[in-house]
Amino acid sequence: MKRFRRLRSSEQIRRLVRETRLNKSDLIYPIFIEEGENIKTPVESMPGIFRYSIDRLDEILTQVNGSGIGGVLVFGIPDHKDETGSGAYDENGIMQRAVRYIKKNYPQILIIADVCLCEYTSHGHCGVVRNGEILNDETLPLLAKMAVSLAESGADIIAPSDMMDGRIAYIRKALDEKNFVNIPILSYSAKFASGYYSPFRDAADSAPSFGDRKTYQMDYANGREAMREIEEDIAEGADMIMVKPALAYLDLVRQARERFELPLVVYNVSGEYAMVKAAAKMGWIDEKKIVLENLTAMKRAGADIIITYHALDVCGRLDE
Ligand code: PBG
Ligand code: ZN
Repeated sequence: MKRFRRLRSSEQIRRLVRETRLNKSDLIYPIFIEEGENIKTPVESMPGIFRYSIDRLDEILTQVNGSGIGGVLVFGIPDHKDETGSGAYDENGIMQRAVRYIKKNYPQILIIADVCLCEYTSHGHCGVVRNGEILNDETLPLLAKMAVSLAESGADIIAPSDMMDGRIAYIRKALDEKNFVNIPILSYSAKFASGYYSPFRDAADSAPSFGDRKTYQMDYANGREAMREIEEDIAEGADMIMVKPALAYLDLVRQARERFELPLVVYNVSGEYAMVKAAAKMGWIDEKKIVLENLTAMKRAGADIIITYHALDVCGRLDE
């Protein structure tokens, strides 16, 4: 008889033989920053998550600063939206000012800047719209402008989440031309058109006003295509790759881990967070247990880095 239980007999032994470890430095915490003053608005569908104005950002940044987590992912909510999302690449836009603020006051915090137009466009799509169509090539220069302006503001990593074709090469070239050769690109490579983003769209006020994102984000039925997306992003110059969402896509995290050598990121998205919070609030699950189990599963599947709204809640219970 095999005695598997031998290595499970005490917490000390279990700890010693544990195959997967979750570290604080693996975690990235998303932050929503809104135009205006004295704002800390709870996001209804994401308990514990708030939208902050810059003048109240310290409340969350001081927590991040002492936490040991890997960094923050910054999203902006402008007060003005238009057809071409001009607030996204305005040097005094909400993101640009927020990034400058964080860089100046918290130089130790790693800042990842989400690059996408949907929070800034009046129609809520991630690209330029003409006659109801989301245009690819016309969107690329705007994404590049946004990326450059965020690098100029002090972003440490540029993370395009739009899913336009060819954006990584386009953005890389634009960054290089402005001498940002050392600013890495974290590509949302395999980003699926998912029902799991709806709490985020409440938080970021970025729901599309017509149609959906299925002509640019991936069909969740397609795994092989996800590998082709990642392969192409690497060929175009991505430094880090992502699978998003996380939990329903761990098969693809595993495949990506086996096929590609780059740092692999998963995004534990808003709907995944909301489900855990809702069930915990009902008293139907133990949040603390479930969160560690979920995050550990993401790492076991092969992720190196996890973007998660749980980051600050769990980091007190993790190793360096
Ligand atoms: C913007 C963006 C989205 C998310 C990250 N960047 C929403 C979307 O594509 O509609 C989702 C994150 C989450 O649900 O937590 N393109
Ligand atoms: Zn978008």
